[in-house]
Amino acid sequence: MSLRGSIAGAALLVMGAPGAASAQETLNLYCSVQVEWCQAVANTFSRTTGVRVNMTQKGSGETLAQIRAEAQNPRGDVWFGGTGDPHLVMAEEGLSEEYKSPKLEQLNAWAVKQAQDSKYRTVGVYAGILGIGFNPELLKKKNLPAPSCWADLTKPEYKGEVQMANPASSGTAYVAIATLVQLMGEEQAFDFLKKMHANVNAYPRSGTGPIKAVARGETSVSVSFIHDAVTEDLAGLPAKAVPPCEGTGMEVGSMSIVKGARNMESAKKFYEWALTPDAQRLGAEVGKQFHTPSNKSTPLPERAPRLDQVKIINYDFAKYGSSAERGRLIARWEKEVGSLPR
Ligand code: F6P
Repeated sequence: MSLRGSIAGAALLVMGAPGAASAQETLNLYCSVQVEWCQAVANTFSRTTGVRVNMTQKGSGETLAQIRAEAQNPRGDVWFGGTGDPHLVMAEEGLSEEYKSPKLEQLNAWAVKQAQDSKYRTVGVYAGILGIGFNPELLKKKNLPAPSCWADLTKPEYKGEVQMANPASSGTAYVAIATLVQLMGEEQAFDFLKKMHANVNAYPRSGTGPIKAVARGETSVSVSFIHDAVTEDLAGLPAKAVPPCEGTGMEVGSMSIVKGARNMESAKKFYEWALTPDAQRLGAEVGKQFHTPSNKSTPLPERAPRLDQVKIINYDFAKYGSSAERGRLIARWEKEVGSLPR
């Protein structure tokens, strides 16, 4: 049976090849891409280096909350993947280790900027574009047009048809809020979110929850990363996504070493490995996930949405990745939007 969508908060233990590393070498990996890619990363790193990997998969907001809770007694060593904003928050709060990889010069500018913004406490591993997901078959059945603009998501005809994840647990949903604030201005963005709320049937915990619900025919429309719709489409499910006509935001999926990691040597070994083209290929080849890899020598997967073909805002990562701004916007959303009756 396929693992797609069936594991949330998954944990996996992978034993490295005997003899390749000393018996003590272990890595506690927190992973916030989809579970198939997390498992491919854990298995391949373990096979290549002999390091035993304990992998836990959770969303970006949830992983940040866990790392904060464990600050006095860190249990994770590296956090791989997840949207960039909470990695920047982690850096600002002194929860990540400063580390300047010699591979920085091999990376795209947006990945290096993420490292610079964090004073070398995180780094970009992939990029992704935010979009609107939809199920063309379900929309046809309901006689509804495919949405193409943010403005469409507030139209009464989509009442009960829209899903977005919960921004407290999901980095995807936080990128959506930060994008709307940057596109429209904060007051208009919150008016928009309140109007859209009337059309929302659920705010799932995980960022990929809404597009999986679209693909299963449980909802017609979602706020999702475009690459996550490609994954569903390639699995033969009816899911598509478009960049909204007004323009959209992007993520710089990131990686950080936990401050005071118990297995610092394994953490740095993993970090270096994860920036190589061989490791970055795994996302598309094994994980069936089509992000833009950060290492310039990693082939761009054919189905990866192209950053240069979409109207992308000049996302202010430093501002929206600051602890105060992220905390404030999520609290405002919870108070003024998430708690409203529908
Ligand atoms: O492909 C999985 C993905 O969309 C990543 O691109 C992203 O960084 C991550 O999930 C975000 O997950 P969540 O919204 O659950 O934090």
